[in-house]
Amino acid sequence: MAVNILAIETSCDESSAAIVADGREIKSNIISSQIDVHKKFGGVVPEIASRKHLEAISLVVQEALDEAGTAFKDLDAVAVTYGPGLVGALLVGLSYAKAAAFALNKPLIGVHHLEGHIHAGFLEHPDLAFPLVALVVSGGHTSLVYLPRRGEYVLLGQTRDDAAGEAFDKVARHLGLGYPGGPQIQKAALQGNKDHLDFPKAWLEEGSLDFSFSGLKSSVLSYLNRCKMKGEAYHVPDIAAGLQEAIVEVLSEKAVRAAKLKQCSTILLAGGVAANLRLREVLKARAEQEGIHVVWPSPLLCTDNGAMIGCAAYYKYMQGDFAPLTLNAVPNLSL
Ligand code: KG4
Ligand code: ZN
Repeated sequence: MAVNILAIETSCDESSAAIVADGREIKSNIISSQIDVHKKFGGVVPEIASRKHLEAISLVVQEALDEAGTAFKDLDAVAVTYGPGLVGALLVGLSYAKAAAFALNKPLIGVHHLEGHIHAGFLEHPDLAFPLVALVVSGGHTSLVYLPRRGEYVLLGQTRDDAAGEAFDKVARHLGLGYPGGPQIQKAALQGNKDHLDFPKAWLEEGSLDFSFSGLKSSVLSYLNRCKMKGEAYHVPDIAAGLQEAIVEVLSEKAVRAAKLKQCSTILLAGGVAANLRLREVLKARAEQEGIHVVWPSPLLCTDNGAMIGCAAYYKYMQGDFAPLTLNAVPNLSL
C-alpha cells in the first residue's frame, strides 16, 4: 500500500495543498497564488497574506483531495511547512495541519521550507544520488547546501543581505515591471545587451561561499536615479540583462566552487529563481566544464508548492520522524 501524505505549504504568498504517494507520485498539487492581491503593493504584505491563506486553506485541501480521489480517511500523515517564512502565514497552514492530524489520528510531519525546495528535485529525479550540492535561490533565500546523504544538510554559504529573488523583485519594482520581478526581468533581458552595463558582482572574501546582492541592487537603482535626475534616457532591457547577468554569474561560479570543494558531481538547483532560464544555461555550461551534472525541477515545482513538502515529508515518515501537536511556526528556522 502506498503512503499517502497530505502536504500543506503557506509560508509566503501561495496557499498550496498536495497529495503525494510514496514521496514521488504527485496525485494532486493545488496552488492558490495571491500574486494578484500583492501586485498592487509591489511585494508581499504579510497581514494580507495571512488573511488570504485563511480564506483559501480549506478549499485548496478539499480540491487536493478531490483531484487525487483520496478521502481524508485514506491519508497516512499530514505534513506542513513550519518555517522559515512569514509567521502569520505559516500559522494558518500549521494550525490546519495540526487540527487535521489530531482529528484523523494520523502523524503530523513538520518540514523546513528549504528542505521542501530541495525535494522538488527528488520528485522529478528520483534517482538523484548523494552526495550533492544544492543551490536554493528564492525570494527569501540564497543558500548553498551540501547533502552528504539524505536528511543531512550542511550550510556552506548564504546571502548576507538580500536574496537573489529579492534583488530581482526590488529592481523590477523600480523599473515598473511589476511583481514578482524575476520572470519580468528575465523577459525584458531577452531584448537587452548583457554587456552594455557592467554592474558590480560581490565575490566577498577569498574562498567565501556567501552571497551579497544589496550592493548590486543599490548600484542598479542609483544608475536609474542618476538617469532620471539628469533627464537621460535609459534602456530597461539593458538594465534587466545587466542585473540578471551579475546575479547569474556569481550564483553559478559559487555553486560550481562548492561542488568542487565537496567533490560532488551533481548540483541541484532549486527555489523560485531556479526557473530562470539564463541561470540554468550559465550554471549548466560552467558546471559541465568541470564534469559536474546540473538538475532542476520544472518551473511549477521551482516556486512554492505543496508537492515538494509532501516529498520531503515521505522520508521523515519512513523514519518515524513525527512532530508533536505542540509544533509551532518558526519564522527564522535554520536548516
Ligand atoms: O520559491 P519562491 O516561490 O518563494 C520563496 O520561497 O521566496 O520564489 C519566488 C521568487 C521571487 O523572488 C521571483 O521573482 C523569483 O522567485 N522568480 C524568478 C523567476 N521565477 C520566479 N526569478 C528569476 N527568474 C525567473 N524566471
Ligand atoms: Zn520558497
